[in-house]
Amino acid sequence: MVKESMLSQQMSIEHIEAWLRETRNDKLSLLWQTADKVRKDNVADAVHLRGLVEISNHCVRSCAYCGLRAPRKEIQRYRMTADEIITCAHQAAQWKYGTLVMQAGEDYGIKAQWLAEVIERIKKETPLAVTLSLGERSYEEFKLWRNAGADRYLLRFETTDKNLYNYIHPPLAGRSSDRIAILKDLRTLGYEIGSGVMVGIPGQSYTSLARDIDCFRKLNLDMVGIGPYIEHPDTPLGRNSLCRTALDRKDRVPNDELLCYKAVALTRIVCPQANIPSTTALATINPTDGRELGLRRGANVVMPNLTPFPYRSQYEIYPGKACMNEDAQRCQGCLTGRIVAIGRTMGLGVGSRL
Ligand code: 5AD
Ligand code: FES
Repeated sequence: MVKESMLSQQMSIEHIEAWLRETRNDKLSLLWQTADKVRKDNVADAVHLRGLVEISNHCVRSCAYCGLRAPRKEIQRYRMTADEIITCAHQAAQWKYGTLVMQAGEDYGIKAQWLAEVIERIKKETPLAVTLSLGERSYEEFKLWRNAGADRYLLRFETTDKNLYNYIHPPLAGRSSDRIAILKDLRTLGYEIGSGVMVGIPGQSYTSLARDIDCFRKLNLDMVGIGPYIEHPDTPLGRNSLCRTALDRKDRVPNDELLCYKAVALTRIVCPQANIPSTTALATINPTDGRELGLRRGANVVMPNLTPFPYRSQYEIYPGKACMNEDAQRCQGCLTGRIVAIGRTMGLGVGSRL
């Protein structure tokens, strides 16, 4: 039994877990209402738009869940040019998106100095905040990009369960992968930091998801992205492989919509001031109103895709990604309409953490 009074910023990991397991509708209504109130009291009604540009789909890593993993030889790899990226930035500014998010696989073909110059150009030519999401790069590179004007960095830690993490996210030979340590370095460098997890990866228990949410709170994250795990049939975790069988467990968290809303709502309650997107993955599993339900249950950010064709469909982290065949203009109109229709307003300015 979960007691209502326990829905607070300081709630214990055990209570977070009990809420993740909750199925009664009256209790869940209370969870949604509380998250929505905390959202309104702390970050108000503005929904901030972050234009997403998927600048490269090259990746050196072999994450067991991801469609961009290095061993997938069959996908066509691309890397956008500086001019292509700058064109997207101007588009974002024209549509009053406050932020440009540049995302890619872990691609060492993205040279540090080259990117620093792209960041400098964006900062000089537009009023945009710049967010990077480029995987596990070196401290020196993070520092160079920060000095060039980058404002924020996104790096999901994916799960706090170390064994599960190492299993699904093998490090490069001779290296270790400690994303929590990297997030701390990024903070020291003055970045706003964002992280997050997938909900329902094979091997994820309710307890570990509750610990993930507690970890968001402990890290005092500025941004938290949470989306459902979506099977990619051409990855070890997506097909019926040894890897998947090895991870199977009875109390696995389902990778469904409801669990994602619970995780978003609880995250809002324990991280009241964070910027929390209603993610594309959520819109993928519920194209009708997944984005809206995310926004009504704690989220305050959306990330319209600005990646031009044909790259957009080649950035296939998981299949059936929402808006894969839409163009940027349509996403702009669609999202603006959805935000206004639920009585929220368009975020003005860059939408940094208050
Ligand atoms: N399903 C859902 N999300 C995924 N990501 C990667 N692969 C998948 C998948 N199969 C998420 C990871 C990564 C982010 C960019 O996309 O959490 O950090
Ligand atoms: Fe792309 Fe709706 S957000 S079409």
